[in-house]
Amino acid sequence: MLHRRRFLQMGSLGLTSFSFLSFKNAASAIRKPIVISTWDAGINANKGAWKVLRSGGRALDAVEQGVMVTEAEQSCCVGLGANPDREGIVTLDACIMDEYFNCGGVAALERIKHPISVARRVMEKTPHVLLVGEGAQQFAVAEGFPLEEQKLSEDAEKSYKEWLKKSEYKPIINVERSKGQNAFVPNKLPNGAWNHDTIGMVAMDADGNLSGSCTTSGMGFKMRGRVGDSPIIGAGLYVDNEVGAATATGQGEDVIRIAGSHLVVEFMRQGIAPEAACKKAVERIIKIKGEKAKEIQVGFIAINKQGEYGGYCIQKGFNFAVCYGDDHNELIDGKYILPPTPKGG
Ligand code: GLY
Repeated sequence: MLHRRRFLQMGSLGLTSFSFLSFKNAASAIRKPIVISTWDAGINANKGAWKVLRSGGRALDAVEQGVMVTEAEQSCCVGLGANPDREGIVTLDACIMDEYFNCGGVAALERIKHPISVARRVMEKTPHVLLVGEGAQQFAVAEGFPLEEQKLSEDAEKSYKEWLKKSEYKPIINVERSKGQNAFVPNKLPNGAWNHDTIGMVAMDADGNLSGSCTTSGMGFKMRGRVGDSPIIGAGLYVDNEVGAATATGQGEDVIRIAGSHLVVEFMRQGIAPEAACKKAVERIIKIKGEKAKEIQVGFIAINKQGEYGGYCIQKGFNFAVCYGDDHNELIDGKYILPPTPKGG
């Protein structure tokens, strides 16, 4: 891979070493199991997924367990402590998809800690794909999910208070500074916190089956009722077990516009490698947006049936975590297309 390797972090898993080499050295050289996920929160999420994958579990269980770690962390812009909408209410979106084209999602869900698990119940227990708002919450409660009190994280609380001073409705570019890196930061939350809003995860299990998950609080200070790409199958997530799986992060409107994750999978169907497929989807957005592309961030990550992986984004500041062994959980800087613009860009 041409990616710059940043750091390896699996020691803290505390698990007996599991080697993927037996798989890797097979004649087909398929790298499996494997899990990748967006942003640095993906490191911990991958650990949750890897516990399932290393014991021969199903990719579907891995991608649910993996992003549940992030939903519970309340340390970034996912889950009940995340940035609220402009009325101060946290609304959550999530979806999940397995190797049989089964899929489920929830949107604008309030007061539920694990929207990804509700999305899975939608997939497994209803004839539908997407439940929203009050109906999604009623379904969750009927399924035994407790109604939690909303409790913003300290960062989200501060950000919201700052935002209220101007109440300016302006999407903020998703960026993140990786450890040891002085990333150019075109924009950040009013309190100076790094802004990223979504965890997307795709995995292949030891049987070679693919699944994916995506969960988010959506764009900070969004309009009430706004739904982004993350709960939309084909936009925030897509899985085709014959080809590969992809997920997205960043400005959801522009991911929906191109059915982004589906597009990445379709590029892979043409034989294009995951990184190049992600790049082509990003180029599609830039072509549509023209000059305005520099005002947004979108990142895609993908894996294919060979266990190859890759990611690409519009501009610097996106990273993703890749795990395919007890001792291999690596944060990689996403390659980007637009050059850094002057401060404030
Ligand atoms: N990508 C998350 C959102 O736009 O809501």
